[in-house]
Amino acid sequence: MLKELYSHRQVEDRIVELGREITEYYRGKDLTVITLLNGGMFFGADLIRSIDLQLTIDTMALASYENKESTGIATLRSQLKKSVLNRHLLIVDDILDTGLSIKSTIEYLQKLHPASIKSCVMLRKINDRRPEDIDVDWFGFEIPDKFVVGYGLDYNELYRNLPYIGVIED
Ligand code: IMP
Ligand code: MG
Repeated sequence: MLKELYSHRQVEDRIVELGREITEYYRGKDLTVITLLNGGMFFGADLIRSIDLQLTIDTMALASYENKESTGIATLRSQLKKSVLNRHLLIVDDILDTGLSIKSTIEYLQKLHPASIKSCVMLRKINDRRPEDIDVDWFGFEIPDKFVVGYGLDYNELYRNLPYIGVIED
């Protein structure tokens, strides 16, 4: 059974707020927003359009989830098209859970010598599986440790296109 956690409207409103904050933070800087595919693509598309700056966009893909369990391995498939040397990078993803995706992505990007690396996710899960030193710089909503779908988040590749965020309940 699917229960709505955040409506489309609530997500959109929050993205506008985040966009304002991020705009102020990066004003005057060379920003590249790197969206993690596939999960981050819907949130990323909306967030990027709420940032009122001249910026460039790029994407990367990684996979760490099968079914509802983390495999504990983040396989990185970089599709970066432009150099990120000396650029300010903002990683955008759907959700922070164990932190493995963000950690692996940061480690990869650090080797490319950008000016800075920050991250923004739509959802930040409250759990004790994530090491304390792994966190994001911005997030849309903080949620309990439940499996959520929609707005890019999938359950075995389904539900990504739901326009709201829902919880699967038995
Ligand atoms: P982490 O690497 O454990 O932080 O998890 C990040 C990735 O795991 C996300 O980008 C999602 O692809 C997936 N994920 C984590 N929690 C959920 C969830 O509740 N629903 C759907 N996907 C999730
Ligand atoms: Mg993902």
